[in-house]
Amino acid sequence: MTTKYLLAFVTLIIVLVILINPCNACNKDPICKDVNSRFKTCEIFVVGITPFPSHTCCNNLIIMNDNVKCEYDGVRRYCSCIVNFSNSHDHLPYLQDRIGQLYIFCDIHLSFPISERMDCSKL
Ligand SMILES: *[C@@H]1O[C@H](CO)[C@@H](O)[C@H](O)[C@H]1NC(C)=O
Repeated sequence: MTTKYLLAFVTLIIVLVILINPCNACNKDPICKDVNSRFKTCEIFVVGITPFPSHTCCNNLIIMNDNVKCEYDGVRRYCSCIVNFSNSHDHLPYLQDRIGQLYIFCDIHLSFPISERMDCSKL
C-alpha cells in the first residue's frame, strides 16, 4: 500500500516537472515552429549535401521573407529561431558560401540572417 502510494506520488511529481518545465516556456518563441519547419528544407543544401537547393526550400525562403515583415521584431526572432534550431540537433556545419548561393539559386535577397552562431540581439 505504502509502495503504491509512493509510486503514484513519484509519478505525479515527474508528470508535474515535465508539464511545468520552465524551458517549455523559456526557449520557445511560438514563431519558431513555422520558421524551423521551413528552414529545415534548406539545411541539406546549406551543409553541402545536395548541389542545389530544392524548390521547396526556395519557396519556403520566399514565404519566410514575406512573413518576417509582418511579425513584430521579425528579423531578430527569425535569426534566433534558426540559431536555436541549428543547436537543437546534430548536423554538418553550415557553409557560408552555401548560404550565399541560396541568394543566387533561389533568386532572393533574404531579409534575415542564416547562422549557427550569432548574437541576434545585435541585429
Ligand atoms: C533561443 O534559445 C534561447 C536560450 O535557450 C532562448 O532564450 C531564446 O528565447 C530562444 N529564441 C527563440 C526565438 O526561441
